[in-house]
Amino acid sequence: MPNNSIRIEPLTRHIGAEIHGLDLRQPLTGESFEIVHRALLDNLVVFFRDQDLTHDQHVAMGSQFGELHIHPSAPCVDDRPELMKIHADDTTPFAEGTHWHSDVSCDAQPPMGSILRLTTLPEVGGDTIFASMYAAYDALSDALKAFLDPLTALHTGRIYEGRYEPIGGGPRREYEENEHPVIRTHPETGRKAIYVSAPFTDHIVGLKSSESDVLLKFLYQHCANTEFQCRFKWEENSVAFWDNRCVQHLAIWDYYPQTRSGVRVTIKGDTPFH
Ligand code: SIN
Repeated sequence: MPNNSIRIEPLTRHIGAEIHGLDLRQPLTGESFEIVHRALLDNLVVFFRDQDLTHDQHVAMGSQFGELHIHPSAPCVDDRPELMKIHADDTTPFAEGTHWHSDVSCDAQPPMGSILRLTTLPEVGGDTIFASMYAAYDALSDALKAFLDPLTALHTGRIYEGRYEPIGGGPRREYEENEHPVIRTHPETGRKAIYVSAPFTDHIVGLKSSESDVLLKFLYQHCANTEFQCRFKWEENSVAFWDNRCVQHLAIWDYYPQTRSGVRVTIKGDTPFH
């Protein structure tokens, strides 16, 4: 029997869909798992409303999509490193994710997906913008695609070093440095996506630093084109699930000194390839 209660409402042509009719407190059945998985592949980021999950239910949902990723040093909830705390208030020196990025891309096997649930929202603001790196790649000229396709770039976690209060005397693990394709092929859809971002990408390998700097600056500007984006307005207990292999996101910190808080569960990915 097909599941007729689940409805998928796309937000834009390139990216984003809201999924209605699912209670994430229950484990996804074979069919509902397939629907969410397909919707994620087709829409790159999917959103759910009114999901009053316990931490265990949040972890259980993420675990259905793969082994959970542990952030090298970000604060967590209840001493559980798989539950990354996302929090900003009038005392925090920064808010998480305020520059375009794909999560922890310095890892050898960067996260496949992230599932964020927010529980405390400012009166207004605190939206998150998501951008399709497929659409960004597709919009390049064939000549530039051909130049970028074989290149790799070095990703580091330098921006995070010293950022968080040490956990029990130090980070959980050292930040990695890894080379990844500038253009990666999505392992499930076979589509190509731009995979560089200012917080993590140090330089393009094999170019002079002046060449790398100019090219990266162009790519960052290009990837931020509003045509590739959707913007999500959070409510209490909204959940966003994005595919880090083809999406960059940016959290807007326009609500200081108000509080915005939630928890992110992150799913491990595989080694990016050309
Ligand atoms: C992040 O996971 O980078 C933060 C996203 C957000 O707070 O909206």
